[in-house]
Amino acid sequence: MAVPPEFIEELRARTTLSDLVGKRVKLVPKGGRLAGLCPFHSEKTPSFYVNDSEGFYHCFGCGVSGDAIGFLRESDGMDFMEAVRYLADVAGMAVPNNVPQDSEKAEQRKQAIDALEFAAKFYQKNLDSPVGKGASEYIRSRGLDAHIVSQFMLGYAPRSGLYPSLQQRQFPKELIVQAGLAGISERDGQPYDYFRDRLMFPIQNRQGRVIAFGARALGEAQPKYLNSPEGPTFSKKAVLYGWTQARALLRQGLPLLVVEGYMDVIAVSASGVAAALAPLGTALTEQQIQLVWKLHPEPILCFDGDAAGQKAASRAIERILPLLEPGRTVRIASLPSGQDPDDILKSEGEEGLRRVLSAASGILDSLWQRKFSEYRLEDARTQPGARAAFWADMRQLVRSISHNQTRTAYLDDVEYRIGAMRAALKGASATATGGYSSGGYQAGQMVRTRRPKTGLRIQYQAALALLVRFPELFSDFAEELAMMQFEDNELENLKKQIIDLLIATPDLDEAAVRYHLEHSGSNTVVDDLFGSDMTARLDASFKQGSAGWTAVRAKEILTEILDRLLHKTRRAGQARSNRS
Ligand code: UTP
Ligand code: MN
Repeated sequence: MAVPPEFIEELRARTTLSDLVGKRVKLVPKGGRLAGLCPFHSEKTPSFYVNDSEGFYHCFGCGVSGDAIGFLRESDGMDFMEAVRYLADVAGMAVPNNVPQDSEKAEQRKQAIDALEFAAKFYQKNLDSPVGKGASEYIRSRGLDAHIVSQFMLGYAPRSGLYPSLQQRQFPKELIVQAGLAGISERDGQPYDYFRDRLMFPIQNRQGRVIAFGARALGEAQPKYLNSPEGPTFSKKAVLYGWTQARALLRQGLPLLVVEGYMDVIAVSASGVAAALAPLGTALTEQQIQLVWKLHPEPILCFDGDAAGQKAASRAIERILPLLEPGRTVRIASLPSGQDPDDILKSEGEEGLRRVLSAASGILDSLWQRKFSEYRLEDARTQPGARAAFWADMRQLVRSISHNQTRTAYLDDVEYRIGAMRAALKGASATATGGYSSGGYQAGQMVRTRRPKTGLRIQYQAALALLVRFPELFSDFAEELAMMQFEDNELENLKKQIIDLLIATPDLDEAAVRYHLEHSGSNTVVDDLFGSDMTARLDASFKQGSAGWTAVRAKEILTEILDRLLHKTRRAGQARSNRS
C-alpha cells in the first residue's frame, strides 16, 4: 500500500516524538534538550537525545538516529506500514487507502486473524475442560506451570468442535479454510477441523496477534508437530516463535537464545535463565536473523551436538557471516549430542543450561574449529596442503562480511590465528621431527624426562593450572609448551588437549576451558588442577609477587616454571643422547 508523502509529513508533524519515546525511555532535560539512556545499546549515562522540534532522535553513544517511524521500527520491530498505522492511531488520523484491492486484502487478513484468535481462545478453554484432561496431564508431565501455559496461550484442539463454533460466529467457510483452521474432506466435501487432538501452540506476530499454530501430537500420531499452512497471515520464514514473550523477558536483561523447538522456547523461558525464540521447523532465514537482532545484539544460537545439528550450525554461520556488523553478531552453543535445551534443563537444571551458554563460542571461534576438523588437521597423516587450504578457506569465508570495518577486524583475527598456528608448529619442529598427532600438535621426538619425579610433576601441573586460569597467556608460551614432553601420559595428554583447544579457539576464557576439559574424559587429572592443594600452592606463588592474582603475575610464574622445566628436560634429554 502506497501512502502519499504528504500524509507521512502531516503524521510526523502531529507526532510528539518525546511522548512516543518517553513511553519506553525515561527522558530528562539535559543542556536544553531531552536525553535518556539509549534503548539501542547499554549505557550508564544518557547519550540518547530527542529533538521534538525536528522530530528526530540521535544517540551519541552508538550513533543511531531516526524519526518516529524509525523509532518504532527499531524498538518494537514494526515494519513501515505498521509504524504508520500505529502513529496515525495515536494522532487520530485515518491512513488513506488509495489502492482498493489492498484494502480488501487487508480486511481479509484482519478477519482471518480474528478467526485465529477466536480459535486460540477456543483451544485454551478446551484445555481447561474435561475433554482436555489428557493434554493438561501431558503439560504437567513436561513440568510446565499454569503461569507459563497462559503466557504462551497453550491450548488443546479437541477432535472436533471448532468449525461449528466459527460458523456460529458468522466466519465464512472460505475464510476458515484459508486461515488453515479447517480442511475440506475429499470424501464428502465437508469441512473438518484441521487440528485434532493436539496440544496447541499459538504463533503470534510481533504485535502479539495470533497468525498461525504449531500443534503437537499427544500420542504417537504423525507428524509429531503440525503447523498451520502458509497463507495471507502467515509466512514461516518471516516469523519466529516466542517473539512477544522474549521481548518482555529481555527487559530483565537476560541473554537471548535461538533454539529449535516450541517446547525449548517455553522451557527456557520458564527457567528464567534466558529468553528464547525458535524458527518454525526450518533453518534460520536471513529475514529471521535480522528479526532476532532487533531484540538482541548477540543472541546465542543453540545446536544439537549430533552431526545433523553441527551441519545446521555451519550453514547458519555461513549465512550470518555476510550480515555481521558492529552490534550484530551471534554466539554458537553446542549441546551434548541428541539433547535439546529442554532436555538439559530436565537433566541438569538451570545450572546445566547456564554452563552450556557460558561455553558458547564466538562466531569466528566456532567457524575456525569446524573448518579445522573438516580439514582433518588434528590427524597426523594430513598433509601440509590441507593447512594451506584451511587458511585460504577461512580467509575466503571472512571476506564475505559486507561491513568494511567488521570484515577487516575479522580478517585480522584470522591472520592472528594463522600466525599462532604457525608459531606452534615451528616450536614443535625446532628440536625434532614434529608435526601433528591425533592428540594435536606434538613435539615429535622431544627431549624427555626419564621418570616423572613428583616435584617435576607438580610443577608441570602448576603450569597447566595457570594456563587454564589465564588462557590469554597461551600465545606467549605456545612454543615452550609444545617443546616439552612429559613421561606421565595423562599429563602429556592433558597438555595436548589444552594446546589443541587454545589453538583452535584462542578466545576461550577460564570457565570455557574448564568446561571443555571437564567434559572430555580425563577427570582425575583435571580435578587435580583445580584441587585445593594446587590452589594453595599457586596462591603462595602469587603472594610472592606484588601484583596479586593477575595475568601479569601469572606470566612471571609461568616463565619461571617453564624455564626450570625446559632446562631440566633438556639436560635429561642430552644426558640420554650422550649415552646412546
Ligand atoms: P523435535 O522433533 O526436535 O521436537 O523438533 P522437540 O522440539 O524436541 O519437541 P518435543 O520436546 O518432543 O515436544 C524440533 C522442531 O521441529 C519442528 C517443530 O518446530 C519442532 O519444535 N518439527 C518437528 C515440525 O515442524 N514437524 C515435525 O514433525 C517435527
Ligand atoms: Mn524436546
